[in-house]
Amino acid sequence: MKKGLFITFEGADGCGKTTQIKLLQEYLQRRGYEVVLTREPGCEGLGQKIRDLLLNYDGEVSPVCESFLFLADRAQNVDIIVKRNIDLGKIVISDRHTDSSLAYQGYGRNLDVDRIDMLNNIATSGLKPDLTYVFDIDVETSMQRVGKEKDRMESAGKKFFERVRQGYLKIATKEPDRVKVINAIDSIDNIHKQVVELFVELEEKFS
Ligand code: TYD
Repeated sequence: MKKGLFITFEGADGCGKTTQIKLLQEYLQRRGYEVVLTREPGCEGLGQKIRDLLLNYDGEVSPVCESFLFLADRAQNVDIIVKRNIDLGKIVISDRHTDSSLAYQGYGRNLDVDRIDMLNNIATSGLKPDLTYVFDIDVETSMQRVGKEKDRMESAGKKFFERVRQGYLKIATKEPDRVKVINAIDSIDNIHKQVVELFVELEEKFS
């Protein structure tokens, strides 16, 4: 491969992304790749402060303010972590990225999706993931998995999460080459197999 790759994991809270990111990381390392994990919000020090504001602030938050905070964290992630490591030939995996803003702030909070798309482009300077996994899960199961201890975003309610879910599915329909939907209710092993198969397809495109 000439340069590194950028892979993102998306889906509702409690969809099992974290487990699958770890399994993909281990698979890639066994194959000899250098892997860097990052996440949004909260990739590093400043991002961690933005994350704390976003998830723990207990007053009213304007949806536009919320969007800009996620976008500010994203710019930090892209400039400080993602681009530098891709340039070094590494595989960067981000736990959430631009599609979270489209699904949660665009579809979920009912903000203008095209405008969020434009702001995403500014935050990332146009960098796009090579592959995005969307873990699809029904709202009931997702809420059960999150449990009672909810952060500010997780407290948003059932209708919000239904819009988020449908939002992700619309994004996948619009960009089928990049965005792959995986049924998050399947077993950990089956999901990992699908994740690997999709990675291998991507690898073949670049070889
Ligand atoms: P986190 O604890 O990282 O959730 P998860 O483990 O499910 O990824 O919290 C991130 C929360 O922020 C999650 O509810 C999704 C939300 N979010 C947005 O609403 N917009 C965004 O752009 C991003 C990156 C996250």
